[in-house]
Amino acid sequence: LGGSLPVPNVQDLAGRPDDLTPTILRRYLRADPTSTTNIDQVNDGIIPVVDLGRLVAGDEEEASKLRQACEEWGFFQVVNHGISDDTVEEMKRDVTAFFNLPLAAKSAFAQRPGWIEGYGQAFVTSDDQTLDWSDIFFLATQPPSYRDLRFWPPEDGQLITFRRSVERYSAATQRVAGDLLAAMAFNLGLRDAGDMTCLAAAQSMRMNYYPPCPSPAARDRVLGVSPHSDAVGLTLLLQVSPTVAGLQIRRPDGGGGGGWMGVDPIAGALVANAGDVIEVLTNGRYKSIEHRAVVDATRERVSVAAFHSATFGSTYAPLHEMVGDGGVPKYRSITVEDYVRLVVSSKLDGKNIMDAMKVN
Ligand code: SIN
Ligand code: FE2
Repeated sequence: LGGSLPVPNVQDLAGRPDDLTPTILRRYLRADPTSTTNIDQVNDGIIPVVDLGRLVAGDEEEASKLRQACEEWGFFQVVNHGISDDTVEEMKRDVTAFFNLPLAAKSAFAQRPGWIEGYGQAFVTSDDQTLDWSDIFFLATQPPSYRDLRFWPPEDGQLITFRRSVERYSAATQRVAGDLLAAMAFNLGLRDAGDMTCLAAAQSMRMNYYPPCPSPAARDRVLGVSPHSDAVGLTLLLQVSPTVAGLQIRRPDGGGGGGWMGVDPIAGALVANAGDVIEVLTNGRYKSIEHRAVVDATRERVSVAAFHSATFGSTYAPLHEMVGDGGVPKYRSITVEDYVRLVVSSKLDGKNIMDAMKVN
């Protein structure tokens, strides 16, 4: 594994606008303006909405909504997911409390060189890489044996409820992921739903903090997260403040000319998207869609992505039923261990991991 190069804490930078020299800002600037160009205004905010309660009850109309969402969008919002308001509100409160701790307190949970877990920034592999305008706090959450509690703020510290809130929210989202994957397996006509639901066996969480960018000149040139597709099975995203939008998805060709489309948060909903591993398992039937996060001009934004994958010891490969008799697998097969190694050693950049998975 390559080491991650240390870069500045962005929340700290954003809080000291007078120190934001052009030299410091240059590392964050993109070639093209990010906030206004190339956005699919017509479709802004309208991605499919799936009612999980109806889906689980076997409602056929809802199942076909999910099918269409997976085949045509790769992204949808999940409502009526059955996670209690308390569980969601406590997660929001405690992730916000974490980022509000003084830098010195958060540094106790700092990323260690070469690995993604802990508090820090997205993986940085070279000095000339354009940096994301965000800080992240990454935890392995499920199964419980995967947790490294050195990174979990302890109950006798400043965040007495953090562990409990993450534990509850984690279990609840894992259940939602399993239900969605089971419905996808049904939609795909798989004999064994376990071929999809195995992707809910492991979970990690990436908590994102996007400060506003205080420099008006740089504001339109920074990104909270670079364009990427998720190198996991299924992602469930919680947008902590439903009034601050930031997520944008790449419209599949044919809709909006492949431009970026903003996703307006629906209060109480989770945003779901199929990751690269679902694209591999379905042999490309369900695509893993590129997305990015932009930064708000004046307000901070916090989000929590729960990533679901198979556990170590499994292998990712196009499912035989998806390839079909005499069909050709589009992706190679890879163990979960090797896949994680591939992801951690790659720069987050577009669909580069999928490209590495393609059979040529
Ligand atoms: C991500 O996709 O990595 C984060 C998306 C978001 O914060 O909206
Ligand atoms: Fe993502």
